Amino acid sequence: MRVIENVSLRPFNTFGIDATARYFASFDSADALKEILEDPQWRHTPRMILGGGSNVLFTKDFDGLVLKNGIKGMNVVKEDADHVYVEAGAGENWHGFVMHCIEQGLAGLENLSLIPGNVGASPMQNIGAYGVEIKDAFYELEALHMKDLASVRFNNGACEFGYRESVFKHQYKDQFTILSVIYRLNKQPHFNTSYGAIGQELERMGVKELSIRSISDAVIHIRSSKLPNPAEIGNAGSFFKNPEVTLEKYESLKAAFSEIVAYPLPHNRYKLAAGWLIEQCGWKGYRNGDAGVHAKQALVLVNYGHAKGEEIVELSWKVVESVKEKFGVTLEREVNII
Ligand code: FAD
Ligand code: EPU
Repeated sequence: MRVIENVSLRPFNTFGIDATARYFASFDSADALKEILEDPQWRHTPRMILGGGSNVLFTKDFDGLVLKNGIKGMNVVKEDADHVYVEAGAGENWHGFVMHCIEQGLAGLENLSLIPGNVGASPMQNIGAYGVEIKDAFYELEALHMKDLASVRFNNGACEFGYRESVFKHQYKDQFTILSVIYRLNKQPHFNTSYGAIGQELERMGVKELSIRSISDAVIHIRSSKLPNPAEIGNAGSFFKNPEVTLEKYESLKAAFSEIVAYPLPHNRYKLAAGWLIEQCGWKGYRNGDAGVHAKQALVLVNYGHAKGEEIVELSWKVVESVKEKFGVTLEREVNII
């Protein structure tokens, strides 16, 4: 595998941050990755795995080895009466994989159309959108332990999925490279149109008979209308998670801010729309130099051109402070800060 030096990461992260990797290599198989991990030259070098770079923010140059996962392939590995199990290489583009499933008439991922990034990162934060999370269709993944080079399989329970969470962001952080993921797709669709905007969009499209394709089209249209296209404006999607609060906290907020946007959760908890909280603090459309808050979605921080990672982080702290001051709620970052 060829390792190159002093590589600009700008084309490799959707925030468009111009950080430099001291060393950079791509791998397209587990063996190629093992070869480099076994090489004594790199044993003590800091390493990071990169997928599509759509959920990272580089705040400095990476003084180590960036390993870009390019493992490809999509195959049916198993089938039963109701399901088809499709395995995809970690380096496959997520949206391409979703489209592949839809083309085969396989249901379960259509609500997750157009999420940027690669299949390998999909379990990292249990990606979710429009009423569905990958945990609803995830079956199993294969990962390589970065130190002992053992290949380990994780089933759904072992991944400990939560809202934008998995075991790979906590006790196994930076320990494994995900090589491939198996999704369990349904032969018969169970349509999920619970997320308000989907129903409205399907109606606007004049859809009479639901299909996985029409749901995908509706989701693609909603996403394109409010989320900035990273090819035009640098961003990593939602910068923060939607915070969860107790019923008591929700009721006190509701009394003070009757328009607050919130969704009930099990166990007397509420999820607040962070975009609403941030907008109420006056940040929507804010811009300082090239760092800003998207004009159509306040949960998305943007790079209009040449912002530095530190400037985006600095802005994020100001947003956190103002939301804390106005609402007494602490926002947690979703984006991985490097
Ligand atoms: P990267 O950004 O490359 O990596 C993310 C993290 O995972 C890093 O820590 C990296 O080291 C690690 N990693 C990546 N691949 C591997 C691997 N194979 N093995 C081990 N570790 C790995 N997310 C949602 O959940 N829902 C959304 O609706 C959504 N919308 C978005 C919209 C936009 C416009 C953008 C830019 C982002 C959005 N995101 C959303 C965030 C992002 O698309 C997802 O988090 C995606 O899964 C990141 O994939 P990636 O390949 O780009 O990961
Ligand atoms: N809102 C505002 N102002 C804003 C933005 C949102 O008032 O500027 C309010 C509106 O009432 C809106 C509600 O918040 O109806 C929810 O907004 P939206 O439907 O855009 O969803 P979100 O909660 O902001 C979450 C995910 C997205 C995902 C969408 C759709 C998180 C952190 N974000 O955003 O995921 O695509 O729902 O399901 O959970 C991502 O993770 O990167 C991401 C984009």
